[in-house]
Amino acid sequence: MAELLNSTDRRTKYCGEFRESDIGARVCVMGWVQRQRDLGSLIFIDLRDRSGIVQLAFDEATEKSIFDTAFGIRAEYVLCAKGVVRKRSSVNTNIPTGLVEIAVDELKVLSGAQTPPFAIEENSDVKPELRLKHRYLDLRRPDLQRNLMARSRISGIARRYFEEQGFLDIETPCLIKPTPEGARDYLVPSRVHPGKFYALPQSPQLYKQLLMLSGFDRYFQIARCFRDEDLRADRQPEFTQIDLEMSFITQDVIIEVVEGFLKRLFKEFKGMDITLPLQRMTYAEAMDRFGSDKPDLRFGMELKDLTGIARGCSFKVFASAVENGGSVRGINVKGGGKFSRKEIDSLTEYVKSYKAKGLAWLKKNNGEVSSSYAKFLSPEENAAIEAALGLEDGDLLLIVADRSGVVYDSLGALRCECARRLGLIKKGDYKMLWITEFPLLEYSEEDGRYYAKHHPFTMPMEEDLPFLETEPEKVRSIAYDIVINGTEAGGGSIRIHTPDIQTRMFHALGMTDEESQTKFGFLLDAFKYGTPPHGGLAFGLDRLVTLMLELDDIRDVIAFPKVQNASELMTMCPALPDEKALDELSIAVTKTED
Ligand code: AMO
Ligand code: AMP
Repeated sequence: MAELLNSTDRRTKYCGEFRESDIGARVCVMGWVQRQRDLGSLIFIDLRDRSGIVQLAFDEATEKSIFDTAFGIRAEYVLCAKGVVRKRSSVNTNIPTGLVEIAVDELKVLSGAQTPPFAIEENSDVKPELRLKHRYLDLRRPDLQRNLMARSRISGIARRYFEEQGFLDIETPCLIKPTPEGARDYLVPSRVHPGKFYALPQSPQLYKQLLMLSGFDRYFQIARCFRDEDLRADRQPEFTQIDLEMSFITQDVIIEVVEGFLKRLFKEFKGMDITLPLQRMTYAEAMDRFGSDKPDLRFGMELKDLTGIARGCSFKVFASAVENGGSVRGINVKGGGKFSRKEIDSLTEYVKSYKAKGLAWLKKNNGEVSSSYAKFLSPEENAAIEAALGLEDGDLLLIVADRSGVVYDSLGALRCECARRLGLIKKGDYKMLWITEFPLLEYSEEDGRYYAKHHPFTMPMEEDLPFLETEPEKVRSIAYDIVINGTEAGGGSIRIHTPDIQTRMFHALGMTDEESQTKFGFLLDAFKYGTPPHGGLAFGLDRLVTLMLELDDIRDVIAFPKVQNASELMTMCPALPDEKALDELSIAVTKTED
């Protein structure tokens, strides 16, 4: 029953664009049927495309064969309709086209449709698995349509801005050398070289640096990146970066250029004026005050250090944390005094997911104090804690004693959780800042070695360079993250550009000369032929769009996202290739999923 388009079937404009000024015009529209309403002698069809909906009308004046066709039309049929725009007898103020309708006098059904597994409407309450299995239908929903259009506008703003600033869009390869540092690589077997593999890039990092060596000076790319990591709400195994690199610059220049982009983005996309320069905060200060290197500044609840008070105190949990080299810190949740025991228990469960062994609390509500820990402390010790946290009536004090890493992680996350529960986060509020002076290295207890906090090509701060061999954990780097509302929207650094410092960095990461030569010999060689000082940054585009749209889930701005276990539910990948393909790649599968 599907009919074909012929050369006279040309769409006048999108469904959502018809207004009163179109009345009297003969037009042609195409799209999907949102719904068909049969009122006996009248039939209305809401026709939908990416721009919105327009009403098609069929009545006594409609030719019978067309009326009969309209009668049989169901949701999601695809139509081509022609007719004259007229004023609607009953106005619909909910849609922009609500003043008009099209009196149809020619109609083609371009495609029939089965009843979809869920209704195509905004915010419909459908299980995520079902939505993702039929993503092509899910994507028809107006909210997802808007999200992807917004994403396209945002990448367009980025392209225009960076082009205006003299950045050159240069592509870098997707089949590259496996150099595990950071996340796990996705590997691609080579047919031509049995037993050898390419890796998919975790980012274009080394190539963009080499482009600086080649003299391109300002590079820019909207680049796909692949990382085999555990997924979270703001993480996908493949994601997109707005990636840049510049030569002959300092951190300040990069920050200025990036701030210029943010200013443009907020103005063009949100109509908001942001004030520059943005705040900068060192990593050390961010950890101390917020327990996080991506602090959300939309609310207070800063961490207070209680270690001094806890040292040698009469509560064993606190005292022994300090004795073992850890710390005790707390936050004051204003308005948390009204939390029930059950709510406080659920906060305790919450911090346990950040490896905290417990959560000590004290609440004061209408003068009445209750606490999990106060009875273990002397009146003086209690008074000191309450003074340090500024206890007032209506407050809830939450304290964690543990290794400092656990204290920061759990309280850093807890202050955000309490802000959510208390509704402290206002829509449309944006708080942005730069975090600077990151530690260069991070020690992994598990592997007994240092890892680069950012990546192995990040320049140590000059004044800390002498400690690279002796006290590596003390060395800070010229790295900077742009944090928006508690999310790391982007990160970058000034790069090492001399072979000697790069070699020292590889040593600090536990690589022998031989290993660094095998893995990164090309880079060390390249540095020998004249290297400009350079640096750059990459935004996570998916995260940036999520932030601009104030959404919670990165998947809502990606057309075909993967789920938690890195599979894609529509095509069901990953999948086992056929025997022949594996044979050609000299690959034997030794273990499969149940
Ligand atoms: P980095 O690893 O910090 O830096 O990545 C830059 C930005 O990319 C985003 N991002 C992600 N988004 C979604 N899913 C993921 N799995 C994911 N991982 C990272 C974040 C992050 O800030 N080459 C360097 C950049 C540079 O130094 O120029 C890099 O990749 O928003
Ligand atoms: P307990 O003596 O184990 O019953 O602990 C008394 C209180 O201290 C309880 O509220 C515990 O949740 C809390 N607590 C236990 N371990 C910690 C910890 N590491 N940090 C903060 N509070 C804790």
